[in-house]
Amino acid sequence: MADITTSAADKKEKEYFTEVPQQAPGFFLKGSHQYDWGLKNRLSRVFDPKDGRTVMLAFDHGYFQGPTTGLERVDQTILPLAPYADCLMLTRGIQRSIIPASTQKAIALRASGGTSMVSPFEEWEGELDGKPFKMSRPGFEPLSNESTALTIEEAIRLNASLLAVQVFVGSAYERQSLKNLTDLVDGASRYGIGVMGVVAVGRAMARNAQYFRLATRIMAELGANVVKCYYTDEDFETITSCCPVPIVIAGGKKLPELDALKMSYNAIQQGASGVDMGRNIFQSDAPVAMMQAVRGVVHEGLSPEQGYEKYQDLKSQG
Ligand code: 5RP
Repeated sequence: MADITTSAADKKEKEYFTEVPQQAPGFFLKGSHQYDWGLKNRLSRVFDPKDGRTVMLAFDHGYFQGPTTGLERVDQTILPLAPYADCLMLTRGIQRSIIPASTQKAIALRASGGTSMVSPFEEWEGELDGKPFKMSRPGFEPLSNESTALTIEEAIRLNASLLAVQVFVGSAYERQSLKNLTDLVDGASRYGIGVMGVVAVGRAMARNAQYFRLATRIMAELGANVVKCYYTDEDFETITSCCPVPIVIAGGKKLPELDALKMSYNAIQQGASGVDMGRNIFQSDAPVAMMQAVRGVVHEGLSPEQGYEKYQDLKSQG
């Protein structure tokens, strides 16, 4: 109708660009090229399309640890770090109570839970040779007895890009935690939300490349879109190589800042797609400086030493 009513003088010529073939671009993120639009768009909020990498800030520790050191007041300690993160990994309780709904950051929402630091070990009590006995069952990691901890409707309400689920390969609750993963993948994939499988390490589980290859690959095969695991000094590149989806590393226990930057750098050099780091940032002497130094190593091509220099400069500026 508009064409008919517009006068000939005002009319812009139609241009069909018949000589220009429409592009069919691929997708920047490992293993993600055949996903649907919504999921790709959400993953593009977590991973920067310019370099395919991410700096995720993990502060969901309270879901089993309560007020972890550095997270006693998330409003005071974490909100100043948020501008330097690509993605915030957190629980729904903290998201609703503390994180401004105006944030532009991607959300990775903790979606498994149900146990705590003080969950009792599974024990047998009985009688042996007429005497009472008590015995704990090896492999029954109390923390591994998790369930899924939110519905997909809740994830949509909270505008999550990723759901994080802990997986305990090798524990007595392995099957249950893998079922948590596949249930979340089934639910989340209906709505184009991603799932990140988090490799858990317990007393019975070795922190070596052999274990991480097994656990990360199982999670990817069962549908995780992203996998989080720890860095290993030996053969880390074999873990990233045989995992068909992006791997991000957890920071683990607090290290000296330079060591944490070296670990981030090495992980990226050996095929990781980023970090999902908590304690090494929010327990640092200068968390805002450390956050920017990690960002420098992951996104700006800084060496660990250059990152450390940046940390010290920013720290000295207060
Ligand atoms: C719990 C988690 C944590 O969010 C995360 O691994 C902790 O990060 P960091 O080890 O860097 O403090 O997934 O297992």
